Amino acid sequence: MSESIPAIVLGGSGYVGGELLRLLASHPCIRPAAVVSRSRRHEAVEAVFPNLRGVWPGLRFTAIDDLPDTLGDRCAIFSTAAHGASAQLVDRALGACEQRQCVPSVVDVSADFRFRDAEAYEAVYGIEHGAPDRMQMFRSLLPEHATIRKPRHVGHPGCFATGMLLATMPLMRPGLVDPRLMVSAVTGSTGAGRAPRPTTHHPTRHANMFAYKPLAHRHAPEVEGILRASTGRGVQLHFVPTSGPFARGIYMVLHARLLDGVDSSQVRDAYADHYAKAPFVHLVDAPPRLKDVVGSNHARLATAVNRGTLAVTVALDNLVKGAAGGAIQWMNVLHELPETTGLTTPAAAWM
Ligand SMILES: NC(=O)c1ccc[n+]([C@@H]2O[C@H](COP(=O)([O-])OP(=O)(O)OC[C@H]3O[C@@H](n4cnc5c(N)ncnc54)[C@H](OP(=O)(O)O)[C@@H]3O)[C@@H](O)[C@H]2O)c1
Repeated sequence: MSESIPAIVLGGSGYVGGELLRLLASHPCIRPAAVVSRSRRHEAVEAVFPNLRGVWPGLRFTAIDDLPDTLGDRCAIFSTAAHGASAQLVDRALGACEQRQCVPSVVDVSADFRFRDAEAYEAVYGIEHGAPDRMQMFRSLLPEHATIRKPRHVGHPGCFATGMLLATMPLMRPGLVDPRLMVSAVTGSTGAGRAPRPTTHHPTRHANMFAYKPLAHRHAPEVEGILRASTGRGVQLHFVPTSGPFARGIYMVLHARLLDGVDSSQVRDAYADHYAKAPFVHLVDAPPRLKDVVGSNHARLATAVNRGTLAVTVALDNLVKGAAGGAIQWMNVLHELPETTGLTTPAAAWM
């Protein structure tokens, strides 16, 4: 594994961009060749992310028009830009690769390539899509659920969606539950990105909790679409997100009604079979704890069944498994590297 795949990181000055760079610092095969930012152009990456001091001392943020003249035969494009901006940036980076005869693989963590067509995207996001002609090249799903040959490019499903998909796919594929699913999830403040807002200000977040967009969050229709495409089954996802008093992590609970005749051992077997070969998804006996996963690419799930009701608890790090780590995991797959490359660091536990 001595090859060095150049990476272009779009929207690299935000929380997910910084986390992606932190993870790439210990990736043996992928190195940042360009980190694109409008607001931090020409600034040293280590000046914006002091935790990366000394990793790539000469690396500076660049403009999308100033990508390197040569990129080699193939490269990795990560987009960690805001939705709405990402599609255009990806389009321009793909155009630059075409000019340089470099074969790119893209993983976009924004919402811009989670839908199959611009109409579906525009119906949920209410803005015009920035690169509709590129959408068909992308698939949106988790590597744990891919059954087809590897896609060309990936629209990463996102952080809440990672939890929802990990919890629901093993139930939906064999049809073990009523397809009306109830999900509640508490998220850390990094989920809202780096731009300060009243709802992300420390006095508001500290020692506080509040739900937002109950039953009206955009991720519900996104996940319904992915489940429908992957299982052929219709599903209704009723989702209530809550802001929690911590910086990183998602703690999720899914409630579902088991179909008549389905018992707890069938449920457990469905998860165990589904994730038997998944290096980052762990079925555990007791409800998982955030601190066992935060800082890592691991997700933990536990199930409980009583009187025909199933509760699945899920813990994951929104910035790692739900964004930057999940994106690197996909990039490893697209470049035929072992899926775990650069991602084996365990959780910090007492962070
Ligand atoms: N935070 C999470 O837990 C999480 C999890 C999963 C997915 N995501 C998705 O990942 C992406 C990044 O999230 P984040 O939390 O890192 O957000 P963030 O901290 O706000 O960073 C987003 C970056 O996008 C760039 N950007 C914003 N508007 C732009 C525009 N109009 N044109 C070009 N660039 C623009 C900004 O960089 P410059 O202004 O410097 O160019 C900014 O640093 C988002 O699409 C988000 O939905 C986030």
